[in-house]
Amino acid sequence: MRSQDMSETSEGTNHRPKLFVDTVGCQMNVLDSELVIARLRSQGYELTDDPLAADTILFNTCSVRQHAEDKIYSALGRFKSLKKKRPNVAIGVLGCMAQKDQDEILKRAPFVDIVVGPGQLARVPELLEKARSEKTPQMAVSKARTGGTKLEVVDSFEEFDPIREQAMRSSPYQAFVRIMMGCDKFCTYCVVPATRGPEQSRDPAEIVEETRLLVDQGVSEITLLGQTVNSYKFRTGDGRQWRLSDLLTELSDIPDLRRIKFITSFPKDMTDDLLQAVRDLPKVFRYLHVPAQSGCDEMLRRMKRLYTVAQYDEMMARIRETVPDCAVSSDFIVGFCGESEESFEKSIELVRRSRFKNSFIFKYSPRPGTKAFELYADDVPEEVKKRRNNDLLAVQSAISQVDNQAFVGQEFEVLVEGPSKSFTGDLSAVSGPVQMAGRTMTDRICVFEGNSRLIGTYSKVRVVSASAVTLFAEVVTDRVTHGRPSAWTLPVIS
Ligand code: SAH
Ligand code: SF4
Ligand code: F3S
Repeated sequence: MRSQDMSETSEGTNHRPKLFVDTVGCQMNVLDSELVIARLRSQGYELTDDPLAADTILFNTCSVRQHAEDKIYSALGRFKSLKKKRPNVAIGVLGCMAQKDQDEILKRAPFVDIVVGPGQLARVPELLEKARSEKTPQMAVSKARTGGTKLEVVDSFEEFDPIREQAMRSSPYQAFVRIMMGCDKFCTYCVVPATRGPEQSRDPAEIVEETRLLVDQGVSEITLLGQTVNSYKFRTGDGRQWRLSDLLTELSDIPDLRRIKFITSFPKDMTDDLLQAVRDLPKVFRYLHVPAQSGCDEMLRRMKRLYTVAQYDEMMARIRETVPDCAVSSDFIVGFCGESEESFEKSIELVRRSRFKNSFIFKYSPRPGTKAFELYADDVPEEVKKRRNNDLLAVQSAISQVDNQAFVGQEFEVLVEGPSKSFTGDLSAVSGPVQMAGRTMTDRICVFEGNSRLIGTYSKVRVVSASAVTLFAEVVTDRVTHGRPSAWTLPVIS
């Protein structure tokens, strides 16, 4: 949008239109928001963290559980009166809920101006302009998975990975890089294959180029993103078939890139070449997020997870054998359709024997449009889901608490990310040390006293005590190195 157009629509005189973006959901959404904001900024917008000061308010949404959608609908409800008072304010719903609910959004919130699915994000600026000039809501969504030929459906989910902008990331040292879009696994409970479309791997040359650019901007740690990131495959023009392990090897050659993480892995695709790459490439995190979802074969079958508990155990054994110090984390769904007390106990047993670093535990949320919604009754009462959630979490926490004690006394290199969550003040007003946080190469959070000058550096810390989620440490002063000199620039969000 040209800023001149915007100045007519905003209240008052010629000023840069202000943009407010609220993002929920997974890392893919965080990355999508970064890219949409960068695109709009290049067209004259200025970011604000005050929705009431904004000319354009965008919600980047998630549909994975009912709760995530309810929150967005109630947030939209709160903007109804604002829109009445200031009709020139544009309100947009982007992301997975836009793709899933489409017209339903305009029925429930008719004051919304644009509805844009994750496969159409490149059109956000054009649609905002059109909604303003034509004064009618605009919608851009991709085709349903059964709404055309495979190629037509794939084409309707357009890649949106434009030029990256340093100022739009919450950290100048860390960045997400998308290596795959969509998902073809079709777990029966999950909306993602519908909202994000068919699985498509990106060309390794593009990924490498984007990473180089990020490194030039001062990034020293990247996280490769994909719904099933270890299913990555791409055949290049020369006939070479690329796997994730090949990509990790190639990216490792980028000077000044120090750390590479990848999430999320699918158990069945955890191949030996990937585990060997994790073992042999020093820049690659020794951390795998491989959701199990359940420890009961009958549940896994109903979920259509494509593996058995024995196969998951076998994968864990291979991980432990190939990369003994690798941290593994998991996701679980409790209270899935037909989950008996006995089935649930099997998830507890799986957590006990797998000794995950941590587990993300979710109560099953039936999603209209999914196979599970169609085939099975949501027959576990809410109180039972809640109790199972707490019980599984308690077992996992006890394990993490015990396992973390092994790190007390050890030294680790961490990338100092910034003040820890407990710090609330203005960092520039503090001259002495504050509570800092950083992660180890096994993705463990370390908290320690440190000067803010350490932010963005790779510092050595010694663990002095540990809880289930945090390693409490002190800085060992003799080894502090920088990502790159340019990594010293703090993000400027104007
Ligand atoms: N692609 C990733 C994760 C996708 S969604 C993977 O396959 O592992 C993140 C997590 O949300 C899932 O791992 C699952 O545990 C949870 N989830 C997905 N759909 C859900 C639903 N309908 N109800 C509750 N949890 C769900
Ligand atoms: Fe959803 Fe399963 Fe795909 Fe993960 S692998 S995004 S849980 S369908
Ligand atoms: Fe949610 Fe979509 Fe991510 S449904 S979890 S934002 S892929």
